[in-house]
Amino acid sequence: LGAPVVAEAAPKTTNIAHRGASHDAPENTLAAMRLGVRMGADLVETDVQRTKDGHLVLMHDTTLARTTDVEQVFPARAPWKIADFTLAEIKRLDAGSWKNPKFAGERVPTLPELLRVLAPSKAGLLLEAKAPELYPGIEREITRQLGAWPVHAQVQSFNWPWIKAYRALSPKAVLGVLGTPKVEELAEIARYSDQVNPPHASATADYVAAVHKHRMKVNVWTVDTADLMRALIARKADGIITNRPDVLNAL
Ligand code: G3P
Ligand code: CA
Repeated sequence: LGAPVVAEAAPKTTNIAHRGASHDAPENTLAAMRLGVRMGADLVETDVQRTKDGHLVLMHDTTLARTTDVEQVFPARAPWKIADFTLAEIKRLDAGSWKNPKFAGERVPTLPELLRVLAPSKAGLLLEAKAPELYPGIEREITRQLGAWPVHAQVQSFNWPWIKAYRALSPKAVLGVLGTPKVEELAEIARYSDQVNPPHASATADYVAAVHKHRMKVNVWTVDTADLMRALIARKADGIITNRPDVLNAL
């Protein structure tokens, strides 16, 4: 008699709502984050930057123009950089109407406002430091705010030296580099990062295996169709960053 054969369950793919459930709600608003959680996301992804008066706000672009009505509210303030506005000014903006009038009145959230929404839920946070080189010292603010809330958080950036510096500041953090490092670079990256998060086109089965060999995880972006999600799962991606967490949840 041999040992009983036990089928090993495939690890569940992490469902990561890109800028919240941003297919159906205005990206990086609390409406999109709440919807992402309702749709079954394990993590919500968002982008963090800093206002003129030092508050951390959630926005993808480094200017306010595309996703708010800033051009109407402050017509003389082009090019409407986040870093040139106070939080009080940014809170006057409508961040929902551009997507759909039914979201009129949605505001640009702060990081603590998002953490307050996530704390009572099971969902965690994948926080992208967007262009952190524009905001010297933002890593200290991020670690302080994440530490103040009972929310599982991971931090990623396209700026790899910044992630390396974050590791020095926060040895236990879960960290990811965005982009597609060369296979020869993976050993060095594995010294400070837990994840390599590439665009889905780079995530071939061989590439995913190479990253896994260095004991890092792979979260791919941005994947919105069921067919492509299945393909990435077959290539052993650990997580899928999607505008449509409901589609991934249904698989
Ligand atoms: O999380 C991955 C993805 O958000 C990176 O690209 O431009 O949407 O921030 P982007
Ligand atoms: Ca992002």
